[in-house]
Amino acid sequence: MLTKIPNNKNNHFVNHDLKPPLKWAGGKRWLLPHLLPILQKFENKRLVEPFCGGLAVALGLKPKQALLNDINALVINFYKCLQFGLQTNLLMANNETLYYQYRLRLNDLIASGNSDGSESAELFYYLNRSGYNGLSRFNSKGQFNVPFGRYKTINYLQDFSGYKEVFKNWQFLACDFEQLIIRSDDIVYADPPYDVQFTKYAKEDFTWHDQERLANWLGKLNVPVVVSNQATSRIIKLYKKLGFRINKLSAPRMISCNGNRAEAMEILAFKNIS
Ligand SMILES: C[S@@+](CC[C@H](N)C(=O)[O-])C[C@H]1O[C@@H](n2cnc3c(N)ncnc32)[C@H](O)[C@@H]1O
Repeated sequence: MLTKIPNNKNNHFVNHDLKPPLKWAGGKRWLLPHLLPILQKFENKRLVEPFCGGLAVALGLKPKQALLNDINALVINFYKCLQFGLQTNLLMANNETLYYQYRLRLNDLIASGNSDGSESAELFYYLNRSGYNGLSRFNSKGQFNVPFGRYKTINYLQDFSGYKEVFKNWQFLACDFEQLIIRSDDIVYADPPYDVQFTKYAKEDFTWHDQERLANWLGKLNVPVVVSNQATSRIIKLYKKLGFRINKLSAPRMISCNGNRAEAMEILAFKNIS
């Protein structure tokens, strides 16, 4: 849907149906019906996402101002290129040989310290769409090691200029969440890797120590905070102890539980939000 935005000096058209351009493990598009009514109450604030991943929440909410961070430098480089209206002529096909050729090229760019820029963004997009389950996984040397995805069909986008207008006033950073500087006019939505074993998004694991470090950091902020995570008993205990209010909801995924498959439970934890 293309809509003319009133009071927009340049009479730009903004596409309101922009979908997240990447597939992202742990993406929160499914959570938007729960999150948007809460976050929309703070529409004049800057949205800070310390773990922005596939941007499902930022693109669902489309705040005027946002600080979007992820420790994965390749995904942040991709978004920065979208801010400049990336268009690509890269040959994209659902082909295993091509996939491993492009993976090799991206890993050369990483190894030579040249993974900032449009070539790396284009390769990363192709590998994300064609690789296994939207994973973004790296080995101990920082090399991207996700295998070919074996999808029947894949739709590739070559023209990303639709994202330019929406991303215009958003700031993208690639660092550990604790390095972010939070302002008094911010609202924070934090979606860290789930508290489960064997979660590997980037080359570092997100350990129980990191879950505690995050909860303590969020607990000290004097701005509205919403956090999502898997509803494990230790996560609920951790956030309750820090004075967060907890809502539980069922997630659209299954987990193994004593050898059976059970519906996973999610929490939303709130601080400084009535
Ligand atoms: C559950 S995903 C976020 C998904 C996102 N909300 C979405 O809807 O697509 C968690 C993200 O945390 C990032 N991450 C892991 N450790 C981090 C850290 N220490 N600081 C910042 N980001 C980190 C991962 O790269 C991953 O993209």
